[in-house]
Amino acid sequence: MIQVFKPYMGDEEIEAVAEVLRSGWIGLGPRTAQFEKEFAEYLGAPCAVGVNSCTAALDLALRLLDIRKGDEVIVPAMTFVSTAHCVAYNDAVPIFADVDERTLAIDLEDVKRKITRHTKAVIPVHYGGRPVDIDALREVDGSRIFIIEDAAHACGAEYKGRKAGTLGDVACFSFHAVKNLATGDGGAVVVKDTALFERAKRMRWLGIDRGTWDRTEVDRSYWWEYFVNEIGLKCHMNDITAAIGLVQLRKLDAMNARRRTIAGMYDEAFKDMPWIETPPKDDALFRSAWHIYCIKASRRDDLSVYLKDHGVATGVHYKPIHLYRCYGNRPSLPVAERVFENILTLPMYPGMSDEDVSEVVNAIRAFYTESPVCATASSRMSMPT
Ligand SMILES: Cc1ncc(COP(=O)(O)O)c(C=O)c1O
Repeated sequence: MIQVFKPYMGDEEIEAVAEVLRSGWIGLGPRTAQFEKEFAEYLGAPCAVGVNSCTAALDLALRLLDIRKGDEVIVPAMTFVSTAHCVAYNDAVPIFADVDERTLAIDLEDVKRKITRHTKAVIPVHYGGRPVDIDALREVDGSRIFIIEDAAHACGAEYKGRKAGTLGDVACFSFHAVKNLATGDGGAVVVKDTALFERAKRMRWLGIDRGTWDRTEVDRSYWWEYFVNEIGLKCHMNDITAAIGLVQLRKLDAMNARRRTIAGMYDEAFKDMPWIETPPKDDALFRSAWHIYCIKASRRDDLSVYLKDHGVATGVHYKPIHLYRCYGNRPSLPVAERVFENILTLPMYPGMSDEDVSEVVNAIRAFYTESPVCATASSRMSMPT
């Protein structure tokens, strides 16, 4: 079976973990600090704080920006539930915005319509790894509301030559098992000033002002003492995941380059298949990290079952999240609801061989050849029959 996602781990990651285990310090400590420094440098950002997931990073971001009960935060419908859950965790109100049909990113016109005097922030998701047009979003919000980048898919992506994660006021990354930079689970909050950096470090560690490592290694007087002025979360990164992250960070550009090559191979192969719509290509302004290669396909459900039966796993990213019961399940966002019927995530990971790519393409071609009813331009994007 060709998986839809797959981590890309080697002996260096295994060795890095073994080294941490042997060191006797596996919690929050020097490797985490090193990862934070190197990750921030990679992005060209002033500071990054390591946490245990992007979900925690988003939650922390909202707390750092003092978003609270009754505040409104605009989120796209086409995302993972974490993007909205973090708003709910803080008793604020997620306001769902529709998406752009082509990019599946938040629709800026809909953001404009949904801004009220209660709006405190918007969380653009760099869907699939392609950065949102942040300059255009800034124009929409008039710089009055915070922009929190959900960069879970976008590690290494670039917008106008700047790395995703440096574009908004705060940014959140995921290092989940199958993300572009994977540590099993993990995440980072990227902030712009030292006061927020210091507060983020406290807030990911219960509000405690000095980590155990700092107290042990740096300040030997009153080594046991710490202060807690604000109630924080318990969501810090640890040195085992940081060690994996440091190795993955060094490989990130090469891994993303392979993803880009695979995307190009898919683009080329689907040129003569009118019943497949390919995702937007990279250009001078937008350079995707290609976390997800999402096509829009006629008879999506039948195709995905056919592919599964022929050894190719696929996914759907995402069912629009306002349709989940916890968010009311009220259809109201026509584009997201319509494109959801046709989107299909194809296998994409750095370890995918050229033969794997051909196998996926051939299976898709075979499906439409065996179902001639769909093999015409006029049946393009037809709903499942
Ligand atoms: C867009 C988006 N945001 C947030 C998350 C949450 O990431 P994590 O699993 O690291 O909490 C994900 C996870 O897949 C995601 O895809």
